Amino acid sequence: MLERLQKKWNVSGLRLVLIIAIFAIGGSLTGYAGKKLMNLFSIEKGVLWVIVYILLITIIWPFAVLIVSLPFGQFSFFKNYIQRIGVKLGVFSQESGVHSNETGPQLSTKDPQLTTHIAIFASGAGSNAQKIIDHFRHHSLIRISLIVCNKPGAGVLAIAGKENIPSILIDKEKFFRGDAYVPELKERGISFIVLAGFLWKIPSALTKAFPGKIINIHPALLPKYGGKGMYGRFVHEAVIAAGDKESGITIHYVDEIYDHGKIIFQDKCIVLPTDTPDTLAQKIHELEHKNFPAVIEKLLLK
Ligand code: GRF
Repeated sequence: MLERLQKKWNVSGLRLVLIIAIFAIGGSLTGYAGKKLMNLFSIEKGVLWVIVYILLITIIWPFAVLIVSLPFGQFSFFKNYIQRIGVKLGVFSQESGVHSNETGPQLSTKDPQLTTHIAIFASGAGSNAQKIIDHFRHHSLIRISLIVCNKPGAGVLAIAGKENIPSILIDKEKFFRGDAYVPELKERGISFIVLAGFLWKIPSALTKAFPGKIINIHPALLPKYGGKGMYGRFVHEAVIAAGDKESGITIHYVDEIYDHGKIIFQDKCIVLPTDTPDTLAQKIHELEHKNFPAVIEKLLLK
């Protein structure tokens, strides 16, 4: 349990002890202050008393832990912790706590230890990568920290340059028979990988290093039209040739088999008799752009 927390918060053992102590002291302080304040209200003990007390301690608790965290040097952890709860509850917007920064859109002021650093792997134009970058540009908890590409000259590399996001052009030998760039990813604090039009198979060295932390988008309704060679235009041609009345997108976890991991999300569109691979590709791209960033965010804030 403690180990899981340590991993989840990405903190040292000592820091975990301090955090737990702050939770305990902050909690006691909240209870104490709540009772003292209740005495001022002269409400009879009963249902109303309980409701007011719960409301009161809900308001006091964030302040109590923030105050207690100060002398322990853990203010930024708790500030971000409370902010994360606020975002989940819809009390804060994603942008709260982030100041716009002239030097780069990806810079936020929060504790880097609580940030999820995403690497986007892409081989092509990168329109999905661009949408994801736009979506998380001012996000307080999620940051696009790296673009990984296997194709020199791919549009996604230009996007990385324009957006000031570091990029790596990967080498086949190192990727498939070497360390799969795991050290480079870990060094940059990457904890989640998004495949957005990445055409190489993911080697087991990578899936093992990031279990349950790699997702892919596929331009069809898996399990149909998946597997080796089923990408981009080939998928749309197959859907039209089969006379399917609908197609769509699938966002799924990545394992060692092509287009096989557990499905996270699907959305559909109609295929008209007049559709061509190009018009279908356009519909699919629209679905991808609309859904992919939001699904990633939902998954990471879960
Ligand atoms: C997308 O349709 C995605 O589903 C597929 O490759 C395409 C990438 O497009 N895997 P883009 O490079 O994001 O524009």
